[in-house]
Amino acid sequence: MSLYRLIYSSHGKPNLGYHDLKDIMEKSEKNNQLEGITGLLCYGDSIFLQILEGDSCGALRYRTVVSKTYHRISLDTRHNNPELIECVPIESRIFGVWSMKAVNLSDLNSQQVRNLILKYSASNTLQPQTMTSEQCLNFMQALAKFFDKDASFS
Ligand SMILES: Cc1cc2nc3c(=O)[nH]c(=O)nc-3n(C[C@H](O)[C@H](O)[C@H](O)COP(=O)(O)O)c2cc1C
Repeated sequence: MSLYRLIYSSHGKPNLGYHDLKDIMEKSEKNNQLEGITGLLCYGDSIFLQILEGDSCGALRYRTVVSKTYHRISLDTRHNNPELIECVPIESRIFGVWSMKAVNLSDLNSQQVRNLILKYSASNTLQPQTMTSEQCLNFMQALAKFFDKDASFS
């Protein structure tokens, strides 16, 4: 088995709204399920941070599944300046229960979110370009854990 994890960040287009996020979510769930991709998408401070986990699928092997998905996403006009943070082989999935979970930080308890961002970066606003891939991963894992613990995050 060749499982890969890809992390990237990007800037949401100005005036990105609820309907954009809803459409992204619906397309992600549909396509990712077909392609065996799982992950987490976070939006806050006009920034997207996304983790894609994928295995080979049909004729597509190794990194191809996540890199093809990333390439398609990167062409989407609802965001720009995508920055690849990492694409690495992994032993197991972290976000395997979600074909894509989308988290809009503004829907959550803002103090908890700010504290969490500050825990993994030098700022309390989301700036993945200043974070290492490990910090991004740890932040996303911690964010995902809130959904188990605190109903206000779901
Ligand atoms: C920030 C962001 C994240 C996205 N994530 C995914 C994703 O994980 N999977 C996916 O298939 N499409 C994702 N999309 C949507 C794709 O860019 C594209 O619109 C979609 O895959 C097209 O699907 P369709 O060919 O079924 O219409 C994302 C778009 C944005 C802006």
